[in-house]
Amino acid sequence: MITGESFLKEKLTHIMDGETPSREELAAILALPSPEYLYHTADLIRQEQCHDAVLLRGIIEISNVCNQSCHYCGLRKENKTLFRYRMTEEEIMDAAQKIQRADISTAVLQSGEDKTDAKRLCDLIRRIRTESDLFITLSLGERPAGDYLAFREAGADRYLLKHETASKQLFEILRPGSSYNSRREALRLFKELELETGTGCMVGLPGQTPEDLADDLLYMKALGADMIGIGPFIPHPETPLAHCPPGTTEMTLKMISLTRLLLPRANIPATTSLGVLDSTGRRKALQSGANVVMLDFTPENYRRHYDIYPGKTYVAREQDHTLRLLRQELEAMGRTIGRDRPRGEILKTSAKTASK
Ligand code: 5AD
Ligand code: SF4
Repeated sequence: MITGESFLKEKLTHIMDGETPSREELAAILALPSPEYLYHTADLIRQEQCHDAVLLRGIIEISNVCNQSCHYCGLRKENKTLFRYRMTEEEIMDAAQKIQRADISTAVLQSGEDKTDAKRLCDLIRRIRTESDLFITLSLGERPAGDYLAFREAGADRYLLKHETASKQLFEILRPGSSYNSRREALRLFKELELETGTGCMVGLPGQTPEDLADDLLYMKALGADMIGIGPFIPHPETPLAHCPPGTTEMTLKMISLTRLLLPRANIPATTSLGVLDSTGRRKALQSGANVVMLDFTPENYRRHYDIYPGKTYVAREQDHTLRLLRQELEAMGRTIGRDRPRGEILKTSAKTASK
C-alpha cells in the first residue's frame, strides 16, 4: 500500500527532476496531513538556489484609491468608511530615500486601481531612477496596455499583479467588473516586455478547493513567474466576505513550498498577510521556501488607511526598530540579509537573454 509519506516523497522527487505534476497529484499533495517533509524539501531547494540570503523590499503604498469592487478587499470602492489618500510626489520621494538609506535595493510602489495619470507615474519613476539607485517594482493593478511599456521605458524593472485565483468561476464572483482573461493577458505582456513578472494568489477564499489551488500552482509554473506572493485570505469587516473564515497557515505554507519546488529560482516573499494571521508566520514561510521580506515604508499618517485586511498596519511598524529585529530574527535562523545584483549587471544579463 502506498502511504501518504511514500506518495509525497515519490512525487516531490519527480517535481525536482523537472516533471510537472498533474492537477490531481498537486491537489492530493495539498490534502496530505503532516506536511513537514514538504516544508523541509522546499527549504533545501531554497538554500540551494538562493543560499541563505533573504532579500528585502521596501513598499510605499502611494494611494489607497481604488475603482474596483473585489469582495475580499477593504480598499474596494464601496467601502465608504475608509479615508482615501494619494501621496504627493515629494512624500513618495522621501519614502524612497528612506528605503535607500536602509540599504534596501528595491522600492515597490503599490496602490489600488487608481486612475493616476500614466505621465505623472512615468515622471515619478524617472525621478526615483535619477535620484537613487533603487530598482523599481510597480504594483498598481491593471492599466491600459500602453502604460506598461511607458513604465518600462521610464525605468520600472518589475510589475506585480496577482492573478488572485486561477478559478475562473471564483474570480468572476469575487472580482465583479474585472476580467479573468485580461489579467492573464497583462501578465503575458509583462513577460514579453521583459519586466520581471510577479503574480500570486490568496489561500482559503470561500469556496476554493485544493484543485483550484493546484490550478494556481500550474498557472504560475506555466507563466514562468519571477516573483510569487501567496497569502492567506483574511476577512475584512467592511466587505461582503466579512463573516467567512480566514485561510490557514498550514495550507499557505504548503502552497509556498510547492511553489519553490515548481519554480526553484522564483523570488517568494513571506507575505505580510501570513504574518498577520500567525505571529510566527514570517519565520515559518522563510523556512518553507520563501526568500523575500517586504517592509512597509508608507508614512505613518497614511499607513493605517491602507486597510486591505484587518491587522495589516500593526506589523512592520517603525523602520529602524523593525530592521534591527528582523536582522536578529534572521541571524537566529542562520540567514543573512542579501543584496540584489547591481542594476548594470542585471541589464547586461537581460540584454544577453533578449538577443538569444
Ligand atoms: N486577505 C488577504 N489578502 C488580501 N488581498 C486583498 N484583500 C485581501 C484579504 N482580505 C491581497 C490581494 C491583492 C492585494 C492588494 O492584497 O491578493 O492583490
Ligand atoms: Fe482594489 Fe486591488 Fe483591493 Fe481589488 S484587491 S479592491 S483591485 S486594491
